Amino acid sequence: MRRKHLVGVGVVIFLTWNLLMYYMLVSKNPGKIGGVSVKDQLRNLQGDIERQLSHNSELLQQLQKLDEEIRRTTTPRPIRAEDTIIPILLIACDRTTVSRSLDLLIKYNPNKKRFPIIVSQDCGHKPTADVIQRYVGEYGIQHIKHPNTSEIPLPWPQKKFQGYYKLSRHYKWALNQVFHTFNYSAVIIVEDDLDISPDFYEYFSATFPVLHQDPSLWCVSAWNDNGKVGMVSEEADLLYRTDFFPGLGWMMERSMWIEIGPKWPEAFWDDWMRHPDQRKGRACIRPEICRTSTFGKKGVSKGLFYEKHLKFIKLNDKFVPFTKTDLSYLSKEKYDPYFAKLVDNTPEVSVAEAMSGRRSNMKALKILYSTKEEFKSTAKKLGIMDDFKAGVPRVAYKGVVSFMYKGQRIYLTPPPNWTGYDVKWS
Ligand code: UD1
Ligand code: MN
Repeated sequence: MRRKHLVGVGVVIFLTWNLLMYYMLVSKNPGKIGGVSVKDQLRNLQGDIERQLSHNSELLQQLQKLDEEIRRTTTPRPIRAEDTIIPILLIACDRTTVSRSLDLLIKYNPNKKRFPIIVSQDCGHKPTADVIQRYVGEYGIQHIKHPNTSEIPLPWPQKKFQGYYKLSRHYKWALNQVFHTFNYSAVIIVEDDLDISPDFYEYFSATFPVLHQDPSLWCVSAWNDNGKVGMVSEEADLLYRTDFFPGLGWMMERSMWIEIGPKWPEAFWDDWMRHPDQRKGRACIRPEICRTSTFGKKGVSKGLFYEKHLKFIKLNDKFVPFTKTDLSYLSKEKYDPYFAKLVDNTPEVSVAEAMSGRRSNMKALKILYSTKEEFKSTAKKLGIMDDFKAGVPRVAYKGVVSFMYKGQRIYLTPPPNWTGYDVKWS
């Protein structure tokens, strides 16, 4: 008890002494604790915090620098155009002969990592699906199926175009898969009734960097609309620019799909592409001799065109080592002056004269056309395609159509004062 009491008294004395000292200090220096005013203390505290903050932000900057350094040294350099992976998108439906296209696509494929094959199948046709599945197992191709194969309700005058509507819907879905689901940077589109040439991949491989670098190009096509036997030269390495979108085995970049995909049409997608609203003055690269040909007699467009024209197309059979040649001449700034000069320096003759063979000693001849009728009549006489899409004749570049007639190069050319295509020409 005594001890407890003593401790209690001690504590009371200690506390009282402390209270007394505190009271004396505060009453002597009002507003100050420990000789420093509250204001000053606050100011000091603020200073401390500010210093701490700036120190922290310095640390943060250092951290960000380190992070950037790590990213710079560990991520690979941007891929060279030559190394871009370009999938082949094969559009299929209900033709089991898709195997014919696939066999050639596989046979000539130089590198299936660089050119993976994707078959997109519409129509839900089981026998065709079975054929495609075989290739999935044997060659590791990819088989994707369009989930929407429903009928498209159309009023009767349009009903006969159901096929065009369905295939356009399929294209949209398949291209969205390529670019938005699989995230590829480019694509080569083929259809299930196309054969390809031995240098098909070589051609697209070499032209990809040209397409990539030149914003005035929007596609590379394997197709020459006037590529019939007897209407092309032997120059398998000869390439052109064309204002006419040829399709039928063609390549585009992702940026193009981002641009046109959202407004993709319900039907007649290829003619829609040819409209100035989509083409916007851009050109495609096309070959003198086709790198594809079609064996699809009975297509959506009912085969008339096949018997009259498509079956005569010459498919290139030589291998041109395009990747080892300089294709920079195809860029707009080099090609336009070169092509203009080439045509300018060619002697001008009448159709009759060209057909007579009197000037057959000349390497090339030029025939002028000023009206739609003139173009059509000359085209008919010389056997080339005489139609226009959005005012552009097939194959034309700056209005000039180049083809062979009886072993002689002909440039069917608009007059020197030509200002551009007339969309009313059809
Ligand atoms: C023609 C063109 C073709 C173009 C089409 C659209 C030629 C030689 N062919 O088709 O390049 O894409 O017009 O204007 O000029 N398909 C479907 N779903 C269907 C029906 C067809 O996906 O419901 C696919 C086919 O598998 C094929 C493509 O669409 O890959 C074209 O069909 P096809 O029957 O060959 O029609 P063409 O008249 O050749
Ligand atoms: Mn076809």
